[in-house]
Amino acid sequence: MPERVTLFEVGPRDGLQNEARAIATRDKIRFVDLLSATGLRKIEAASFVSPRWVPQMADGAQVLAGIRRAPSVSYAALTPNLRGLEGAVAAGADEVAVFASASEGFSRANINCTIDESLARYREVAEAASAAGLPVRGYVSCITQCPYDGTVEPQAVRRVAAELLRLGCYEVSLGDTLGRAAPGEIDRLLRCLLAELPAARLAGHFHDTSGQALRNVEVALEAGLRTFDASVGGLGGCPYAPGASGNVASESLAARLAELGLETGIDPARLAEAGAFARTLRSGA
Ligand code: HMG
Ligand code: MG
Repeated sequence: MPERVTLFEVGPRDGLQNEARAIATRDKIRFVDLLSATGLRKIEAASFVSPRWVPQMADGAQVLAGIRRAPSVSYAALTPNLRGLEGAVAAGADEVAVFASASEGFSRANINCTIDESLARYREVAEAASAAGLPVRGYVSCITQCPYDGTVEPQAVRRVAAELLRLGCYEVSLGDTLGRAAPGEIDRLLRCLLAELPAARLAGHFHDTSGQALRNVEVALEAGLRTFDASVGGLGGCPYAPGASGNVASESLAARLAELGLETGIDPARLAEAGAFARTLRSGA
């Protein structure tokens, strides 16, 4: 039996949140429906964040209400606080995600609080999610570099990742938010993290600004990680990380994993179809 790797599709969330043009809710629904037919088991479909901060994601509840749910798929939503969690629960998200930063500058810019304030808030979110029966995923952004503070040390990432696991996250996704991490930096980071944390509880979330994201996935695979975030069509970016490009493209990642003899359960033709549709949603398309 080939070894299985989970591809966590974040296109409808990370992919679309950065698009300047308003995207119709029906197009977002069609996008998620196309993804649901690919064999993916994890799709981040919405954000319940402040519409003042990220206007593009204001229709998360309508998106979750409109999609045709595949029983094998877990539909995830970002929740920055208890209000977001309430929205996600009401909309029927299957799991939620909290998102912290390893650097203070990005924490302030993205969620308007310090790292420690965010972790205290996420403890409450995780407790409420657990009471509602929802699994919680965690993100740590800026794992090697921050757009505001510069270089980020591995120990800072380890502290935040360990705390997210302690407060109840089933997995922590490691975000190279700027997409400029070199494979050697990812290797150094993972050596530091894996001294304390199990590989099975970590995932990779590599933006691809420098074109190294696939190589970074390979470094992480060698270190034992088996879950990777990706966006079809390579869409994505964070409005509060200027200059960053999209996530590693799901199509390229699925193809590379297949070449390596790893099983994802994804149908490449259907993924390509979803990717082609995603590209039509892009500004300027
Ligand atoms: P704040 O301004 O400090 O919070 O924002 P506030 O409590 O003062 O609220 C401000 C306004 O937002 C108020 O409305 C609230 O009611 C409302 P007003 O009175 O001004 O009309 N509000 C909400 N509305 C809807 N849903 C909510 C909610 N909460 C407050 N949940 C806050 C703090 C965290 C809310 C804000 O900073 C925020 O929403 N930030 C989210 C930014 C974001 O979504 N960034 C992109 C996702 S992270 C990412 O892309 C990185 C990742 O991909 C990994 C990687 O690549 O590294 C995950
Ligand atoms: Mg991201």
